[in-house]
Amino acid sequence: MSAHIGVTGLAVMGANLARNLARNGFTVALHNRSVGKTDTLLEKHGHEGDFVRTESLEELVNSLEKPRRVLIMVKAGKPVDSVIEQLEPLLEAGDIIIDAGNSHYEDTRRREAALAKKDLHFVGVGVSGGEEGALNGPSIMPGGSKESYEALGPLLEKISAKVDGEPCCAWVGTDGAGHFVKMVHNGIEYADMQVIGEAFDLLRSGAGIEPAEQSKIFTEWNKGELSSFLIEISAEVLGHVDAKTGKPFVDVVVDAAGQKGTGRWTVISALELGSPVSGIAESVFARALSSQADQRKLGQELLAGEEAAVEIPETFVEDVRQALYASKLVSYAQGLDMLTSAAKEYNWDLKLDEIASLWRAGCIIRAELLKDITKAYAADEKPANLLFAPAFTKAIADALPAWRRVVATAVQLGIPVPVFSSSLAYYDGLRRKRVAAALIQGQRDLFGAHTYGRVDAEGTFHTLWGEDKSEIEAVDTH
Ligand code: 6PG
Repeated sequence: MSAHIGVTGLAVMGANLARNLARNGFTVALHNRSVGKTDTLLEKHGHEGDFVRTESLEELVNSLEKPRRVLIMVKAGKPVDSVIEQLEPLLEAGDIIIDAGNSHYEDTRRREAALAKKDLHFVGVGVSGGEEGALNGPSIMPGGSKESYEALGPLLEKISAKVDGEPCCAWVGTDGAGHFVKMVHNGIEYADMQVIGEAFDLLRSGAGIEPAEQSKIFTEWNKGELSSFLIEISAEVLGHVDAKTGKPFVDVVVDAAGQKGTGRWTVISALELGSPVSGIAESVFARALSSQADQRKLGQELLAGEEAAVEIPETFVEDVRQALYASKLVSYAQGLDMLTSAAKEYNWDLKLDEIASLWRAGCIIRAELLKDITKAYAADEKPANLLFAPAFTKAIADALPAWRRVVATAVQLGIPVPVFSSSLAYYDGLRRKRVAAALIQGQRDLFGAHTYGRVDAEGTFHTLWGEDKSEIEAVDTH
């Protein structure tokens, strides 16, 4: 019997994807560097579908129907290159290697180009939803050639999450586009998690609301416009009591947030693209600052900051909810805008409505909101920024007074809200007629003759600062 697809790398994500494929009727050939993992999977879950046990990559490749589909689920970086190197001589023109891990999109672009020269397809696939999603239906963001999607798409669509029967899986664009979109998903994920964290801190440290009570508030919030997986699990975490101490679980967890790197990659790439993902960047930096344990210890001793009592507005909880919603919208707006910049840079035809629709279910940032975002980008007239879509322009205008109150109160209380406040600054930066950049242009021209434009004339100008301060037309040197 020929298998429809092979999976190599059977740690939990690989194993769960393999099981998902088998449960959906595909015959799955299994391979792992140490055969023990393959056997464990077969012992525990062999009854879930048709599996083919293999002990070597050669055996795996030989067990597959053509064009062969081999899905790699190993640690991003060198291990991916190493598996590709071993697979390549075993494959034939038209075969497809699929990397479903969190690889960096530049690696995917490099691998795709190298394998295309050998007539092999290399497909970087973004998969979101954690272990549970991999097993029961993740959100899937495949890149690679359109041609390869014809052979691969039906399998991936079948195992993906569904919204009203529609799969949360679609080809997003060539070469590294799938991994790029997944990376930006993770950037938004970081920002989303941080704004929820800021809301928690404000309600706790500002309004003195205990975690158990907050769990109920979050559960309520989850019924409205904030409805999302991350709000839902936050309610669960906040309601959890530590068995050992009887304290709220969040009080016994060290407040230093880890990161594997995908959020950081988003920001590095955004800096290169010149894309202002300030909220996403702040969320990465907030994790970094939280993890500077030694400096934080010293900071507690050395730095002033306890402020006089601040009156908490009666509307505080609702204000925080609205600020959270507005900041969350900005995170999505920034992430989607970054996709627009990347599409130009990398020549990808990224369809924002389709991408938003892939995120409606299965993935970590799944949210009710994504249904409206999908609609906004499916409209004939695409908004240049998510915040310009009429429904969102209004939603954010409605939330604005509460958002400003929350940020002002947080500042007075000395509670850091980097994503609430930077998102508001982004909003105001987009909205205001004049911003501080005019003075910066003047400074740049004075110390470096970098030139400037005038509001009342075409062209590029320079002031002779060291001479008589007269203005000349200049060649733009940035
Ligand atoms: C997902 C997640 C998943 C993982 C990331 C983030 O979409 O399923 O984003 O990929 O949680 O690796 O992890 P860090 O917070 O450790 O960077």
